[in-house]
Amino acid sequence: MERKSVDLKNKCIFVENRKYAGKLSRAHGAQLALSYHYETILKTVMNIKYCLVCALWATLMCACADKSRTWHIGVSQCSEDIWRYKQNKELEAGGYANSNVRLEFASADDNDSLQISQIQHFIDERVDLLVVAPNKAATLSAVIDRAYDQGIPVVLFDRKTNSEKYTAYMGADNYEIGQTMGNLIATGMGGKGTLVEITGLKGSSPAIERHRGFTDALKAYPGITVVASELGDWTERSGEQAMTELLRRYQGPIDCLFGHNDRLALGARKVLLARGYKAVKYYGVDALPTPGGGVECVQKGILQATHIYPTQGLEVMRLALNILENKPYERNNVLHSAVVDKTNADMLMLQSKELQRTSDNIDLLHGKVDQYFLQINLQRKLIIFFVTFIVVVMLLTLLVYRSYLTKARLNEELCQLNGKLGRRNEELQSLYRQLEDMADARMVFFTQIGHQLRTPLTLIAGPVEKLFADKTLQGTVRKLVEMMHRNMKTLTRLVDEMVNVREIDVEKLEVPEDAAPSPVPLPGEVEADTDEEMADAGKPEILVVDDNADVRYLVRSVLSAHYRVVLAANGEEGLAVARQRVPDLVVSDVMMPVMDGLAMCRELKQDAVTCHIPVVMLTARVLEKQRAEGYAHGADAYITKPFSAEVLLARIENLLTSRKTLRKVFAAGIAESEVGNGEPVSAGQIGTEGPMDGRDNSFVMRIREVIQTNLGDPDFSVERIGSEIGMSRVQLYRKVKALTGMSPVELLRCSRVERGKMLLETTDKSISEIAYEIGFSAPSYFAKCFKDEYGKSPGSWKEERA
Ligand code: FRU
Repeated sequence: MERKSVDLKNKCIFVENRKYAGKLSRAHGAQLALSYHYETILKTVMNIKYCLVCALWATLMCACADKSRTWHIGVSQCSEDIWRYKQNKELEAGGYANSNVRLEFASADDNDSLQISQIQHFIDERVDLLVVAPNKAATLSAVIDRAYDQGIPVVLFDRKTNSEKYTAYMGADNYEIGQTMGNLIATGMGGKGTLVEITGLKGSSPAIERHRGFTDALKAYPGITVVASELGDWTERSGEQAMTELLRRYQGPIDCLFGHNDRLALGARKVLLARGYKAVKYYGVDALPTPGGGVECVQKGILQATHIYPTQGLEVMRLALNILENKPYERNNVLHSAVVDKTNADMLMLQSKELQRTSDNIDLLHGKVDQYFLQINLQRKLIIFFVTFIVVVMLLTLLVYRSYLTKARLNEELCQLNGKLGRRNEELQSLYRQLEDMADARMVFFTQIGHQLRTPLTLIAGPVEKLFADKTLQGTVRKLVEMMHRNMKTLTRLVDEMVNVREIDVEKLEVPEDAAPSPVPLPGEVEADTDEEMADAGKPEILVVDDNADVRYLVRSVLSAHYRVVLAANGEEGLAVARQRVPDLVVSDVMMPVMDGLAMCRELKQDAVTCHIPVVMLTARVLEKQRAEGYAHGADAYITKPFSAEVLLARIENLLTSRKTLRKVFAAGIAESEVGNGEPVSAGQIGTEGPMDGRDNSFVMRIREVIQTNLGDPDFSVERIGSEIGMSRVQLYRKVKALTGMSPVELLRCSRVERGKMLLETTDKSISEIAYEIGFSAPSYFAKCFKDEYGKSPGSWKEERA
């Protein structure tokens, strides 16, 4: 049930359905019917506007919306004419509603086989939907059925097939059109007269239906004679041909002519006018508002009336999209239209022009929208590009950050690893140090062993040397001694090599030279030779300091043939003995308990009483550094164990000889009669190896000064010299004896005699006067002493010099 509104000159008539409208139309005459049709036209125009705006809005929306699927729609047109052109434009506009529609048009130009092949092409292309206006129903049915069978939705419009295989149909009711036009024409003829019908293409559904409707309508008018119903094919040319053909058979009167479309009517009209048929009224179908179209022909009176045959491309497209988008749709959609005659042609033309302008504007807008969307698309692409770029940058940043974190973590791990490696390294270094220490310890051990071997080796070497030197040994004993001597040398060399493997840290070698406990020295050893008779025996006295009793014994046995030997068991004892006895030379070990040899030597050299005593170091400390250390502490000689007795004796002899040479210098210096005349003795003059002579020199100067000052005093004694110098009688004796070879008494007497000689030579004093002046208590004793010294009496000496 449809409800239609008809607005005619402020009157509203509601038509409940089409049938009633048709009855109404007939009942109220053509005027009313036209009014109804006018309203329909308005609605159609408004619909088109609405549809176009919707299309534009939808276009905008779709353009903004995400791209969805594109619908490929094939449009197969049977003909190519102005009506088809208009419809195609509307289809395109209908496509605006959906930006994802791609329309592909094909026109068969009224040719069946061409249209069949075009439809087949669409099938092959697998179009999403086929819109088709089949040229002839029977001929096109098969290919359209095929498309339908292959799942392509088929929308028939305008014309039909003989099949039910279609998805939807949209088109005008051609029967009704034929019927309306039959009634209109018959009414216009007043129900009587002659009439000619020029039909559309034979076999096309509009031609069949229009003819039926027209024929049925005329049945109600028996006064009207249809002179002929001639076949055309929808073209103007076919209208001409049909009319020409008819006039060949019929030359009678013709009041009206109904063409199935306007073009057919106009073609026939040309022929009739040419044949002198001036009063014929012409009717057609289509009512196109285009130049030369049906509406203009009505305006000009060329056509009496025409019936709108709606193109409705927008509606067709809407139907197609509904099908594609699975929206509800009607399968059979009948389009209603209206008659156009003199009464509404102008207004229709105006409306059409207005519509055309609107349509043009929409086209323009669409063009702009297209352009706009092109820009939008470009911008969208740019946005997508930039978003992608930003995302990529963010991802890269993230990656960089992650890699930074990874690097930091790796660094941390590396640090930890480094720490571990460092610790490992430290452990290794510590292990290495331990190994070094072990190696050093081993070296120390070997060195210690070497040093420890030296002492017993020395003790063996000494006796063996003695035996070897003893020429009284002969025969087998001699051979055994030689063998012992040879092997003792080898053993000595091996021990030397063992100790000298490398110059290792001296500190580590600071080991006792004799690890074996030193025998406690015998009490009598230190005190040996304390009586002055022994001193008078003429042998120089040597102090041997060693913590090893065997070594002391060995050295003593080596030296005792030539020297008086006193012994001490360590540096402290040695120092005490040296201070007390002032020996001629000291032979000392270095490494000893209580006080070592170095300290003792330094003490000896710093003491005025003992500083002149040569010190020979006899030690197992074989390294050059140790030797230098010994000399730095004042040693005069440095001999390593195991020692050669010969070398030791030779070295001692050398030192004592140097002392003897020095004695003369010192003695002369002291006895020099003029006070202050004697020059201090230089180190060069002394010729010793040690730096001790400055001290001795000043001692000599001092004692000379004391003697020269006091020699006139007959009571001036050795004790006085000792107390003036700050030495005991023994110390003074030893020191003076060592330095000058004379006892203090002798030195004093010598100095007096020397002064006496000087006075004899330089003064006229008598011998007695001189003798008393130089401290002799009796001149005869002076004379004796003088003669002892110079081989002549003072008198003779004076006479010779006079
Ligand atoms: C256009 C046309 C119209 C006619 C219709 C019938 O091609 O010939 O003139 O009304 O087709 O289908």
